[in-house]
Amino acid sequence: MKSLVFALPGNEALAKNIATTIQADLGEAVIRQFPDGETYVRVLSEVKNRKTIMVCTLANPDEKLLPLYFLSKTLKSLGADCTCLVAPYLAYMRQDKVFNPGEGISSEYFASLISGFADALITIDPHLHRRHSMSEIYSIPCQVIHASHLISAYISEHISNPLLIGPDSESEQWVSEVAKKADAPFIVLQKKRLGDKDVKVTVPQVEKFKNHTPVLVDDIISTARTMIETVNHLKEAGMKAPVCIGVHGVFAGDAYQDLKNCGIAKVVTCNSIPHFTNEIDITKLIIKYIG
Ligand code: R5P
Repeated sequence: MKSLVFALPGNEALAKNIATTIQADLGEAVIRQFPDGETYVRVLSEVKNRKTIMVCTLANPDEKLLPLYFLSKTLKSLGADCTCLVAPYLAYMRQDKVFNPGEGISSEYFASLISGFADALITIDPHLHRRHSMSEIYSIPCQVIHASHLISAYISEHISNPLLIGPDSESEQWVSEVAKKADAPFIVLQKKRLGDKDVKVTVPQVEKFKNHTPVLVDDIISTARTMIETVNHLKEAGMKAPVCIGVHGVFAGDAYQDLKNCGIAKVVTCNSIPHFTNEIDITKLIIKYIG
């Protein structure tokens, strides 16, 4: 029996692409809000004994979690064989330790919520920093897909004489991999986060790279403060206008505009979160692991 692919609101294009490529059916469901803000879910497709795939990228996760939970539970109640969650961007990975007294470890709590209703998870470059594998916090099978070779290919094709720059030690895993595949030099800077929108970055000697095009690579661009702070230092050091590449462009609030305004050449993201900066298509990567 063919699998069924359900799109959570905003994920229709990716869901359709997945369904067409793996020759699955597109699932039909009504997912909407009641006037009082509560979530209504009704599944219209026949799901009994069928494998179901729920496609939902998890930027702004709080508003997405309940529709996802209700859909998964409803599918199961109607006899679906299993519910697999495809979340190209996986949220709540950064609070992976207690930073201040009184906090909890929300990455663990979120993982346990998702593991409680989905049977499997497929995601792209989750922010695994202090945790080295998804199985440390998720109790369901997780497939982690890396976008590094697509980013390397983009750089090789579009940017001449690149110098890859990771804004902090956490980005080293991504930037080193991308640099290796793009056959380009890379440096990693030191970052100190002082608050949600306050980061300090130190830049090492970059004089010998003055003729290179700086390419900032990070997994997430959220407030863009990390990128902006780095760009400002590169400008002070007399470097060319950089290209900023994020795997996941979350762009909280005015982040995109703020980044554009600080004198960069370009912002490029993968389409793990729909945004007009999406120039790197991760659809085929996902399909490869589902198919
Ligand atoms: C954290 O270490 C991540 O790798 C990113 O550097 C971070 O999430 C970027 O956040 P923002 O855009 O808010 O500075």
